[in-house]
Amino acid sequence: MQAIWKIGDTEIEHYPALAGKREADVVVIGAGITGLTTALQLAEDGSRVIVLEALSVGEGCTGGSTGNLYSPLAKGLSAIRKKWGDDVSRDIVTSRIETIDFIEATIERFAIDCQFHRRPLYRLFTTADEVQAYELDEERKALLEAGLEVEDIEQHVLPFSPLQGLKINDQAQFNPLLYVQGLAKAVSAMGVTILEHSPVRDVDYKQGVVKTDTAAVTARHIVHATHTPKGVDLLQTGMLPSREYGVSAKLNGEAYPEGIFWMLDPFHSLRSYRYAGESYLMVIGEKHKTGEGKYDYYQRLREYLSQHFDVQEFCHQWSAQQYSSADGLPYIGRMHARDNVYVATGFAADGLTWGTLAGRIIADLIHGRDNTWHAHFDARRITPAKSAGGWVKENASVTKHLVQDYLATGKLKEFAELAPGEAKVATLDGEKLAIYRNESGELSVLSAVCPHMKCLVHWNANDTTWDCPCHGSRFDTRGDVIEGPAYHALERRDPPVDS
Ligand code: FES
Repeated sequence: MQAIWKIGDTEIEHYPALAGKREADVVVIGAGITGLTTALQLAEDGSRVIVLEALSVGEGCTGGSTGNLYSPLAKGLSAIRKKWGDDVSRDIVTSRIETIDFIEATIERFAIDCQFHRRPLYRLFTTADEVQAYELDEERKALLEAGLEVEDIEQHVLPFSPLQGLKINDQAQFNPLLYVQGLAKAVSAMGVTILEHSPVRDVDYKQGVVKTDTAAVTARHIVHATHTPKGVDLLQTGMLPSREYGVSAKLNGEAYPEGIFWMLDPFHSLRSYRYAGESYLMVIGEKHKTGEGKYDYYQRLREYLSQHFDVQEFCHQWSAQQYSSADGLPYIGRMHARDNVYVATGFAADGLTWGTLAGRIIADLIHGRDNTWHAHFDARRITPAKSAGGWVKENASVTKHLVQDYLATGKLKEFAELAPGEAKVATLDGEKLAIYRNESGELSVLSAVCPHMKCLVHWNANDTTWDCPCHGSRFDTRGDVIEGPAYHALERRDPPVDS
């Protein structure tokens, strides 16, 4: 099954891969919402821009997102208010309101048919215990203090469970994949060169050259719009990569709820989507740290929907990666010690809005313009007091994986021990291998050592991928990079002839 956003993608534009040498004012790595918004803003000012995309437009995190646009934060604005205070909390909400307005205006301007609708956001608890009542009260205060109008929910807004919660009007939903495909078309018409299937293999920062397997782009400015910067970067030491899953279903009857529903049970996000006369209900949730999944998360989401709704059939399933910063705010702006290189990361679950804001901030930095919001998100900020907890936790986790995973990997006795559909990391002749036998019985044998910083990859049975728990690089069963900071594939090994 594929992501729900791919419904109706038969008319999309395709862009060629990169070959030979090219020059530009700015090279943007990544054609998701961050990269294409950056390209749009730069093209408006006459810059020559080349966008390099490893997959196809929007196929990374943007195409795996919820399609929800909201001014508060999924984790709760009260957490930000406690950590950063009222002024920052208010600025965050204001900047995100402005950003959603910008997206709406861009959709109108370029006539992008992406099912954009204004919708309310509900933050709902399924029980009414004292802890939840306190959390609700804290969130209400934070939202009001940030200037939002908040309603208390006293009636059932979903067909299950007694609920208490909050409603915030005038948020929005769209199809994120159709939006970025529309953006790609618009910027392409403005002179931006988009190159798909052009994974970046190296960046020479001194020379300003971004290299793929077959080509190179020389540019004065380099933008990492890849959700986490490619290669090794200081920012990666404080960021938590995690995965979240989505499932969609058709229901019996017409009771598709309208809005963004965040169920704090502990967290499921529900929304409906209508396209070409068909309706779908989707649920997103079951988040876990990348490389540490243990369960069949799609099945869990299917059970959740079946438990609460009259499901006719399940239609789509997909997952996406998130990176959370140690201090709760995204990192947007110039990279450490590199004035002409820009990053946008740490968006947590709120990436569509942050990604758009990031594109506007980075374009302003490149053109030397002031940006009202940049100071809060500066990628060079140092916030030891606010980052300490997250930083210590994440680095302890990386250290644990670097040490324990190597010690805990058992020996492989024979390849025949893997049944079809099974995978494992095992030691053979002193080497750590990632071995997978597909349903047809074919074996793939790869080095299990992540080329980024040498952690061992873990099997992700939900998506049939090898995922690195340290900084979130992910690889398919051929070893090729799907996403994350690694430039290169897992090394391939020849399976034995009689395997
Ligand atoms: Fe950093 Fe694998 S992603 S070691």
